[in-house]
Amino acid sequence: MTLKKFSMDLTPYKLREFKEEDLASVVDINLKCLPENYPDFFFLGIYYRYPKSFLVAEIDHKIVGYSMYRKEKGISCFGLKWIDKGHLVSIAVLPDHRTKGLGQNLLLGGIHSMKFDYNAKEIILEVRISNNSAINLYKKNSFSIVKTLSHYYKDGEDAYLMAFKC
Ligand SMILES: CC(C)(COP(=O)(O)OP(=O)(O)OC[C@H]1O[C@@H](n2cnc3c(N)ncnc32)[C@H](O)[C@@H]1OP(=O)(O)O)[C@@H](O)C(=O)NCCC(=O)NCCS
Repeated sequence: MTLKKFSMDLTPYKLREFKEEDLASVVDINLKCLPENYPDFFFLGIYYRYPKSFLVAEIDHKIVGYSMYRKEKGISCFGLKWIDKGHLVSIAVLPDHRTKGLGQNLLLGGIHSMKFDYNAKEIILEVRISNNSAINLYKKNSFSIVKTLSHYYKDGEDAYLMAFKC
């Protein structure tokens, strides 16, 4: 599928690749925005392996959002083929900076990199079935629901597995 256009320049915001000095800000955004939290080494591990698809959004040198992906091998969600998949591990934008296009461009910028830098053929992600903002974001960008993962989250909520052929 043709990838939608995205921009790294959303003046006054700018998107760019993550740097190690952004770690504390990204960890803080993750803690504020999502119940799924990770130790520092988890973020760094993803950065070391897939630096080009780990993006941040900043304004006035303050980091306000991020997206990070990793690559996995597996059976295609769209047919019986063994392929490289890009897995959206986490994406978040601080509440004061939402609905300005940052989420969409962080999502698409990472997909673009997974496809062209890391040769992913599909992108997959999990999302809480109650997370309407995120589900809308993914549907708007041609992701489809592949299946429901029962009790996927620690608190018992189900997830949708969503996928996009890129
Ligand atoms: C999901 C999230 C990243 C979206 O970021 P954002 O910067 O607000 O997104 P954008 O402004 O780029 O919006 C793109 C699309 O997302 C959807 N969307 C975003 N906010 C929405 C809302 N409050 N209600 C419904 N749909 C919404 C819409 O489809 C929107 O397109 P539109 O503007 O044409 O309607 C943000 O809400 C967030 O950080 N949520 C908490 C963390 C999270 O849930 N991450 C996803 C885990 S799977």
